[in-house]
Amino acid sequence: MDVKVSRSKEAVAAYFSEYLAHLIRKQGETHIALSGGSTPKIVFDLLAEEYKDSINWSDVHLYWGDERCVPPDDDQSNYKMTVTHLLSKIEIPEDNIHRILGETEPEAEADRYGELLSNFLPEANELPQFDLVILGMGDDGHTASVFPHEIQLWDSEKNCEVAIHPESGQRRVTITGKLINNAREVAFLVTGGSKAEKVKAILHKEKDYEQYPAALVNPQSGKLYWFLDSEAAKLVTSG
Ligand code: 6PG
Repeated sequence: MDVKVSRSKEAVAAYFSEYLAHLIRKQGETHIALSGGSTPKIVFDLLAEEYKDSINWSDVHLYWGDERCVPPDDDQSNYKMTVTHLLSKIEIPEDNIHRILGETEPEAEADRYGELLSNFLPEANELPQFDLVILGMGDDGHTASVFPHEIQLWDSEKNCEVAIHPESGQRRVTITGKLINNAREVAFLVTGGSKAEKVKAILHKEKDYEQYPAALVNPQSGKLYWFLDSEAAKLVTSG
């Protein structure tokens, strides 16, 4: 595991964008699962402004690690956020964008998207394999849309499951642990002081830390990166 602490949310986004651009240039065809959240939004702005012409976007295939079950033009849609901040500003083939259909019946969509991932992603270890999964972590330790009260979804046999947000009751479609941990690389983008306790518990492997879904992220490849700002990392001690 690699932990990289930057001084601000903007600095995390800048560092991560460079890492991402490097990965795409090195890899050529690259299959990436995107995340919602506030730091990816800044990353998308930066990619659209500074990397618009230096990334070969036709090499890039975009998927989502999770989606809220709302129409694609709803302000809560992770897809809409990505369109607004990135996709509307770059030239990427329509066929390279594989969104979760938040507007359709969730159970059927979880099955359809799981099948789509099996059809489009390269295979490794007899499972679909993302080149990169980008994740955030909620204040409660959730990641993608696997929440602590439904932690059993992490170990699902299925590629995708329907999750329920603990407070709003909103339904979401999320990829499960077996796909996340089969990725070639996994990158957490976590910023802000409200995450500091959980970041410390997970990185220090404190008692009961595995109650937090984010703690279960442990790709077989060993390539796990935590990109943190100094606020999120403020309780972490080195060594
Ligand atoms: C979502 C995300 C979710 C998010 C975290 C962190 O769709 O809500 O996939 O897992 O990444 O809640 O969000 P922030 O970066 O905004 O704190």
